[in-house]
Amino acid sequence: MQINSVAQLDVAGGIATLTLDSPPVNALSAAVRDGLDQGFRAAIEDEAVQGIVLICAGRTFIAGADISEFDKAPTGAPLHDVLALIEGSPKPVVAAIHGTALGGGLETALVCDYRVATPSAKLGLPEVALGLLPGAGGTQRLPRVVGAEAALEMMAIGKPVRAKDALAMGLVDAITGEETLHADAVAFLKARLDTPRTRIRDRTDRIAGQDPALFHAFRAKHARAFKGFKAPENIIKAVEAAVTLPFDAGMKREAELFWELFRSRESAAQRYFFFAERQTAKVPDLAADLPEIPVRRVGVIGAGTMGGGIAMNFLNVGLPVTIVEQAQEALDRGVATIRRNYQVTVDKGRMTAEQLEQRMALLTPSLEFEALSAVDLVIEAVFEKLSLKQEIFARLDKVAKPDAILATNTSFLDVDAIAAATGRPESVVGMHFFSPANVMKLLEVVRGAETDPQVVAAAMAIGRRIGKVAVLSRVCDGFIANRMMAPRMAAAQALILEGPLPWEVDQVMLDYGFPMGPFAMLDLVGLDVIGWDAATSSSSSVVEILCEMGRWGQKKGGGYYDYDEKRRAAPSPIAEQVIRDFAAKTGVAQRQFSDAEIVARLLYPVVNEGAKILEEGVAIRASDVDVALVYGYGWPVFTGGPLFWADGVGLAKIADALEEMGHTPSPLLRALAEQGKPIHQYRSVAPVGRVVE
Ligand code: 3HC
Ligand code: NAI
Repeated sequence: MQINSVAQLDVAGGIATLTLDSPPVNALSAAVRDGLDQGFRAAIEDEAVQGIVLICAGRTFIAGADISEFDKAPTGAPLHDVLALIEGSPKPVVAAIHGTALGGGLETALVCDYRVATPSAKLGLPEVALGLLPGAGGTQRLPRVVGAEAALEMMAIGKPVRAKDALAMGLVDAITGEETLHADAVAFLKARLDTPRTRIRDRTDRIAGQDPALFHAFRAKHARAFKGFKAPENIIKAVEAAVTLPFDAGMKREAELFWELFRSRESAAQRYFFFAERQTAKVPDLAADLPEIPVRRVGVIGAGTMGGGIAMNFLNVGLPVTIVEQAQEALDRGVATIRRNYQVTVDKGRMTAEQLEQRMALLTPSLEFEALSAVDLVIEAVFEKLSLKQEIFARLDKVAKPDAILATNTSFLDVDAIAAATGRPESVVGMHFFSPANVMKLLEVVRGAETDPQVVAAAMAIGRRIGKVAVLSRVCDGFIANRMMAPRMAAAQALILEGPLPWEVDQVMLDYGFPMGPFAMLDLVGLDVIGWDAATSSSSSVVEILCEMGRWGQKKGGGYYDYDEKRRAAPSPIAEQVIRDFAAKTGVAQRQFSDAEIVARLLYPVVNEGAKILEEGVAIRASDVDVALVYGYGWPVFTGGPLFWADGVGLAKIADALEEMGHTPSPLLRALAEQGKPIHQYRSVAPVGRVVE
């Protein structure tokens, strides 16, 4: 019997099966809630029915509340009422889970009497990633099933558990066959039709006598990771309520804590970011049915810092990699670094020694360019020098297969100038990884003036295949993320001459939510590698003077900070003196700055650069810019990224402040401020031509 557009009820042998079918992920939309409501009513009323199986069609069990409905007026049956109906069913109910039972999906499963799952299923309450907590009873029911500690981990960290682990925790009652979920669920239920039932809400065995020290310890353990986020603390409070209050009072507390989060700017930012991340894959002028360019073998040129990390990405997903260097020593060093990185993972117990060997066996080191003749994708990661890259691409043109994708990992060079060194610029694309390349999630795919759409699509797809978030950029100096952050660095350098010291500036950025401040970052990267040249150095900036003194950063034991042998940083009196002397020499006036002023000085210019990037059509949409900064530079996700954050601050305020600081606000920023339109929803209307500085 068809219940509604997304729900169907079938009765056979005394068992009713309610099947939800609402692609892509069976989220609890109004239609799905109505389907559950009417379906359960029908099954409960039907005298022939002795038990009920809840199952989903398509790729997954219910993956949560429908996030796209969150900011709209509520319609359909309220979730809490639907769950109360299921929990109160006079007939036993089993949730048959495949794919992912997440958020409201798992909360639905928790009001059923039993949960069975396929071996590949995952179960979790990941609301924390949206700045929320499980608001449909999850914070009260999960601890009653798995205990407070495991529930805290699942909800405050948000990582789903595999079926096998869920079984061990008591979260699922049985593992079914991968292909026989429905039949196994029916059999499971039939065997228990006469078993007495205990609702989870009535259980206290796992939570009775919980030592409150657990909550303090949990807060302390994760203090760093939770900094700036609101949801983890509310989740902890909700679990505290679960172990101290009766069920109904706990539910009331959960609701208060949920709505507090729901109304917060942090959650709005994280919900925006959820969709922003998924938007990046959508490129308006790339037809969905473009023929795919299969990538089966990969080549990497240069086995340095980036080349090695880039290669690991492909080895990790089982793709063979040929890595080419110019000298045996560099090659050996590069391969040894890859092995060492894997060994660290093995030592941490996250990989077996056998897996390490399997990955290394996929790697072919070579000194011969000709070794690249069979690969489908080559990524060049040699020194950042245009003439060298052009020479490499001219050679590649001669050896690479006709349909191979030729990619460069350049940070700042002109991808079109590199492409012009080949007879096939349509095959050339930028694939800009972030360091460490095997860890950082961002991949900027840089579309040259002549890059074939199929090549763009392939580069985006391969990025996703290796677990990156691929963001499309046009050619310009620094592409999206590096270009955006350059003004922050410039502002920081200027600011320390006016009074605030590097560590004070860094602290303000840490408090804002960045993992590292600009000066600590400079010390880490090395002051010498950001464009210092000993031959031309003339003591004309603090960086130059520090470099001349040999204070290149961590690797020299000192830069802006001093470092001990364990590379622990301490503010450097020497650097402070250099700064004070330079400020005096150049006559810069000194004054006090509030933290808010420091934030404005460093970050408003970043917002301005973002507006320029949109104006020029370098990024397709504002949300892509936010995603690039969050994944490329650790911009705190609870702000939504620079452009979402800017809307919260107010574009007019930012534009006025920029003018006061001596910057020219971009015309787009001014226009949006005057029209009262948000920038984070902006989609670029600029022609998709080449952008030249
Ligand atoms: N609501 C609305 N749309 C959703 C959604 C949700 N909960 N989950 C996924 N989608 C959409 C995505 O936006 C995407 O749409 P698109 O194709 O138009 O871009 C589509 O479903 C497929 O999603 P993915 O590209 O992410 O597909 P994957 O297969 O990679 O991942 C997934 C599937 C693991 C389910 C992943 O989408 C996911 O983690 N979803 C979010 C799960 C979640 O956070 N659930 C909790 C929601 S909040 C809640 O339940 C509150 C409750 O406690 C009251
Ligand atoms: P690196 O100096 O660590 O490595 C470069 C490697 O290229 C060296 O091992 C060198 O021997 C090799 N090489 C030079 N000429 C070669 C040739 N003709 N044939 C084969 N190999 C050759 O440099 P790094 O940091 O890995 O940078 C490489 C590229 O990646 C640069 O274009 C850089 O701008 C870019 N990049 C660097 C990032 C970083 O944080 N280090 C981040 C993103 C991009």
